[in-house]
Amino acid sequence: MQESIKIAAPATISNVGPGFDILGFSTELISDVIELRIRKGERNIIIENKGRRWATPTNPIENTAGIAVFEFLNFVKANFDVIIRIEKKIGIGTGLGSSAASAAAVVFGLNEMLKTKLDENELIKIAIKGEKASAGAEHADNIAPSLLGGFTLIKGYSPLEIVKIENHLNFFVLILLPDIVINTSKARKILKKTIPMNKVIEQSGNLASLIYAISKGELELFFNSFKDSIIVPQRKKLIPFYDELQEHAFNKGARAFGMSGAGPATIALTESKELAKTIGTELKLFLKTKNISANIFVTKLSLSGTHLIK
Ligand code: HSE
Repeated sequence: MQESIKIAAPATISNVGPGFDILGFSTELISDVIELRIRKGERNIIIENKGRRWATPTNPIENTAGIAVFEFLNFVKANFDVIIRIEKKIGIGTGLGSSAASAAAVVFGLNEMLKTKLDENELIKIAIKGEKASAGAEHADNIAPSLLGGFTLIKGYSPLEIVKIENHLNFFVLILLPDIVINTSKARKILKKTIPMNKVIEQSGNLASLIYAISKGELELFFNSFKDSIIVPQRKKLIPFYDELQEHAFNKGARAFGMSGAGPATIALTESKELAKTIGTELKLFLKTKNISANIFVTKLSLSGTHLIK
């Protein structure tokens, strides 16, 4: 039995325009790195943080990765102690799938070490139990792309069905990350439980077109369908100056704009890397005039998901 392993799990963009809770993609931006060690034992889970910038809770029942490990051991009925060493590189509460990456990494790692051969769906089902701890809901639109890479669609939650969408698009993503934290669980609680029929029709039309565009490589249709009529209108108040940021981005040539997950990161999509950088600089300066500091990153969709590190 392999006793230790090191895994990387990438940051992800979830919701993706009209795809609330069902569409996400993996990015080249950054990955959480997790080392797992196991030994025969009574399912004691020990969490260590490597690096202090983004320390995660060391109580396993409060930690996404800790919960996912416990659920995994329970599922495969294995009795091991597990030491999880988390090098958190994806900022917590940024909207870039930080909690999901850690949960994806541990289920992937245990599956390798224990040779349990669980399939992707089973791994995601276990990992979303961890996600519930931070988001208050078992959403899979960060876990699935972090684990599998590329674009992933959640066809349904009950039963969980994931569809990997082959990507034929080439675009750049500007991520603007203001220096504030949004708690996903709170950002979910503000959402209304009912939606007017006309909004459902608008959203479904855009979502269907967006997915068609991804699989056919129709970039214009993709940009043009990247609209959220339901969730962003309710959540944008959580991000200072959201409407102004969107307007500046479009004026500078962005082809699409939206929130990344529950924010506070926003994303602007472009066809060129240079343009993404220019827009980022402009938006950052704009926020500075409002006394809000922010970081900007330019990245792309990544086809690789969670993987081993030698
Ligand atoms: N789909 C989730 C939400 C993503 O918007 O609540 C959270 O990162």
